[in-house]
Amino acid sequence: MSAHITAGLFVLAFAIVSPVTAAAQFPPGSGAGKPQTDAELRGEAFFVKTCILCHGPTTGQARVLKLGITDLIGFAKRPGVTEDYLRQRILEGVPGRMPGYKYTYTPAELDNLIAYLKIR
Ligand code: HEC
Repeated sequence: MSAHITAGLFVLAFAIVSPVTAAAQFPPGSGAGKPQTDAELRGEAFFVKTCILCHGPTTGQARVLKLGITDLIGFAKRPGVTEDYLRQRILEGVPGRMPGYKYTYTPAELDNLIAYLKIR
């Protein structure tokens, strides 16, 4: 096997394994609040699937890349952060930095996500 192919396989293996290890390092429920209601639990699963990639606890990678992205833990409890603000951010995103999800989620999915963010 040439060194080229070996290196390619290594990169491929890393690409497959790294999202899994990231999820294992930051298990759901490692935030401040513990989801209990059905909506919170569904919202958490959704968050882990969709948002944690960027809004996970700051990883070595995020630090190296200087992404400076909030982990959103306790975010909804900050003074001035309203439910409307959260919905707006999720629907519209942050231009150039975060995708908007207004064509992606059902209203019920969004409600669950908001329920989870409130206790995160
Ligand atoms: C591609 C990366 C990415 C994904 C995926 C992403 N975000 Fe973001 N988000 C960002 C960036 C970058 C910002 C702006 C910097 C910051 O405030 O952390 C941001 C900002 C926010 C803010 C505003 C924070 C503030 O300080 O005002 C909220 C709320 C938010 N995101 C929620 C979510 C939720 C909920 C999801 C999942 C549905 C999500 N984001 C998915 C990258 C992402």
